[in-house]
This record gives sequence, structure tokens and C-alpha cells, in this order.
Amino acid sequence: MLKSEVLKAISIYKSYSQGDAIVEVLNGLDLSVSEGETVGILGVSGSGKSTLLHLLAGLDRKDRGRIEIMGEDLDCFSDKELDRFRGRNIGFVYQFHHLLSEFTAKENIAIPAMISSRSKKESFLLAEQMLGKLDLKSRGNHLPSELSGGERQRVAIGRALINNPRLILADEPTGNLDNENSIMVQNLLLNLAESLGIAFVVVTHNENFANRLSKVLELKNGRLVGRA
Ligand SMILES: Nc1ncnc2c1ncn2[C@@H]1O[C@H](COP(=O)(O)OP(=O)(O)O)[C@@H](O)[C@H]1O
Ligand SMILES: [Mg+2]
Repeated sequence: MLKSEVLKAISIYKSYSQGDAIVEVLNGLDLSVSEGETVGILGVSGSGKSTLLHLLAGLDRKDRGRIEIMGEDLDCFSDKELDRFRGRNIGFVYQFHHLLSEFTAKENIAIPAMISSRSKKESFLLAEQMLGKLDLKSRGNHLPSELSGGERQRVAIGRALINNPRLILADEPTGNLDNENSIMVQNLLLNLAESLGIAFVVVTHNENFANRLSKVLELKNGRLVGRA
């Protein structure tokens, strides 16, 4: 069976103005990712990797080009519609977990479900199940400050996955972890991508992680090229 395309980016341009200067970051970039496919993105610091993920998530707008997620052109959405679409379909994992410090692990995972209009009861039930998948059942009532770095990142993954997104975008998700936790987070993301047929795009400098992905591309001069 032909796997369906989850993400398609065509000829993306993005520049920033810094004072009088214009920094051209993305320069006609193309990318296409199918369900179950895991794509790694490498590139030197400042090459535009985070910019690219933000555009793909609709967290920022491109200058030119076209981005389709599950066949939907992101340009057709208002900002509010885009927020809703992202909440339902895209999971984002950052290098630093960005958990809400005053909420427990379980609450952090449940919040996106409540925002996408599930009841409180259902959201907490889903969060409870997610804690099980993350091997964090005993940590549900802990605050982020009471968790280890690896546990916090697993909670952040749970939060990104709670609404069953079709696409996960991860920006150096293991960049801040020791080797053991890094491998645990890699296993978790790859197993979930495979078992749920999620399309997965990850920025990573970790060679071991990159070698486990279906495709690795390098962001260079504003475009994605095959790894040298
Ligand atoms: N909001 C912004 N305003 C101005 N310049 C920015 C902004 N965000 C990123 N840049 C610039 O765009 C380039 C790419 O940044 P980024 O996407 O963060 O790269 P990477 O993630 O590959 O390190 C850098 O030169 C950075 O300084
Ligand atoms: Mg970055």
C-alpha cells in the first residue's frame, strides 16, 4: 500500500531582518515526509533548522512557498484555526522540555487534551494511560522540578503525543540528556512513530540517533540535501 504523505513543503523561503541587514535563512527548501517515515535533519548552528521546524508547525509564517500538512495548505488557516489544527495534528518536542512548572507531570500531559476540547475526566484518563506508555506511572503527581532530565523529556513527549498527532517535530530532543536517557527517548519516539504510523522529523546532532532514522538530510545554504 502506498503510504500517504503527511508533510509536504515546496520551495520555502524565509528571511529575517536584523537592523539594516536581511538574513536569508531558507532558500527554496523542499521536504516531503510520509506516515511512518522518520527524517533526521543535520546542519551547523544557525543554518535554519529551528526556523524550518517552526514554519512546519505553523508557529511562524514563511515568506514564500507552500506547506501542506495532511493535505491542508497552512496558508488557508487564520492564526486561530492554525492553533487548533496544530493542537490536534502536530506534536512539538523541544530541546528543553518547556513544561509548566506549577503543574504535575500528569497535568502537563493532560492540558493539550483539555485545550482541544476533551473533558477533564477523559483528558486525565488519557494522561494516565500515556504515563504508562512512558514508563512514568509512579511519577504522575510529581512537579517538573521533582523529575530527572530524562523523565521531564519523556513527559514533554507525552504532552506532544496526547492528541494522537499525525506529525511529530522534535528540535534536538536528546541534546540535553546523558547517553542512557538519550537512548530511552530515542526508543520511545521511534517506537511510537513506527507503531502509530506517525511522520517524524527530528533535528539531531546525535550520530547514533541519526543512524536509526529512515532518512537523514542536511540543511545547507537554505536547502535540504542528502547527507555528505
Ligand atoms: N526571530 C528572529 N529574528 C532574526 N533572526 C533570526 C530569528 N530567528 C532566527 N534568526 C536567525 O536565523 C538564522 C537561523 O536560525 P535557527 O533557525 O535558529 O538556526 P539553527 O536552529 O539551525 O541553529 C540565524 O542566523 C539566526 O540568527
Ligand atoms: Mg536550533
